[in-house]
Formats: sequence, structure tokens, C-alpha cells
Amino acid sequence: MGKFTVLNHPLIQHKLTIIRDKSTGTKVFREVANEIAELMVYEITRDLPLQDVEIETPMGKTVQKQLAGKKLAVVPILRAGLGMVDGVLELIPAAKVGHIGMYRDEKTLEPHEYFVKMPPDIDQRILFIVDPMLATGGSANMAIDALKKRGAKSMRLVVLVAAPEGVEAVQKAHPDVDIYAAALDDRLTETGYITPGLGDAGDRLFGTK
Ligand code: PRP
Ligand code: URA
Repeated sequence: MGKFTVLNHPLIQHKLTIIRDKSTGTKVFREVANEIAELMVYEITRDLPLQDVEIETPMGKTVQKQLAGKKLAVVPILRAGLGMVDGVLELIPAAKVGHIGMYRDEKTLEPHEYFVKMPPDIDQRILFIVDPMLATGGSANMAIDALKKRGAKSMRLVVLVAAPEGVEAVQKAHPDVDIYAAALDDRLTETGYITPGLGDAGDRLFGTK
């Protein structure tokens, strides 16, 4: 089964409280969501492989570490995933960005795929799939299916708020994908919203209703 990790660093918890607050407007929501994504990526990349490299400092030659060849990509699940991309790129600016468009039918909660554009070599990359909300898990599961179909082999799912139902659904369907969340919330409401959650992440990021 894939690992599920809550990254509950104090800074992450503090910033998450800011975006949960319904009085937080679009501008601050966007800034802080990216800041949380950046902090999460710092934690999630702890196990990236390193290799030795010889360089010359002003004092002479030395062998030091650099990231080994493994290439990275960030894959936002549109729309709301876009709200985490800049934060990820702050720390790994050379990462490629793939996009996957997914919306949830408001009544049935079934996900629908509408767009996929990936870097050509996703089979050789570690993909960080980002989406603020993991609710039923339908969208994440469909996104992971779509990526596997295109050759992806190494994926990590990075969400701000997870519901237990969504974590279970992804672990069941994709035991090879580790999940990282800034918080694990109580449950889903009857209408499929995470509670206490933060509301509709896409609407709060982009000022829509
Ligand atoms: C939200 C969210 C996830 C999905 C989570 O997107 O960003 O993608 O719902 O729900 P699930 O786990 O039950 O599938 P939404 O469909 O509202 O689209 P948006 O990002 O365009 O607002
Ligand atoms: N999508 C959201 O944006 N919020 C939720 O609480 C659940 C799904």
C-alpha cells in the first residue's frame, strides 16, 4: 500500500489555517496556497538521489553532491492544482509542467477528464501530481490512470487537504503512489465537500462561484 504522510510542520499548519478561514480573499489565498506547496515540496524531496560531482571552489578542487539524473515534473490537476504550481517551481525551477484537466460533476461527484498535455518523457520522470483537495479520490484516481496510460512510472500525490475517504480510495486503486497532505480532515459532507476543509478550492483561488 502507498504511504500516506501528513506534513504537519508548524508553518504549514499556520498557513493552512489562513486559507481555511472564509474571510481570506483570493489574493492571499493564492499566495499562501503556493507557500504551503513550497514547504511541502521541501519535505517531499528529502529522498531524492544525489551523486558526486567534482567542482573547484576559490580554494581548490573538491567533490560535492548534486541531484542525480532523475528528472522531475509537476502535474497540476486543473483548475485548482494550478494554485500549487508556482510554489513547487520555486524550489525545483527546472521541473517540467504537465497539465491534466479534470472536473467533478457536482451532482454525481464523478470526475470527467477534459485535457491532458504531458512532457514526452514522463516515463523517466518523478511526477508530483498537485491538487489542493483529495475528497472522494475520484479525480486523483482518474488522473493517475491517465498518467499511467501514458507511461508514467513514478508518481507522488501532493494535496493540501485530504479526506479519509479519498486517501483510502487512492491507496486501494494505486498502491504504488505515495500521498502527502498538509492535513487529514474529518470526513466528506453529503454533497462531497471536505469538512472542515476550505470550501471550493478552485472558486477560492480564481474568484468564481
Ligand atoms: C476539485 C479539486 C479536486 C476534486 C476533488 O476540483 O480541485 O480536483 O474537486 O474531488 P474528488 O476527490 O471527489 O474527485 P473540481 O472538480 O471542483 O474542479 P476545479 O479544480 O476546476 O474547480
Ligand atoms: N473539491 C473542493 O474544491 N473542495 C472540497 O471540499 C471537495 C472537493
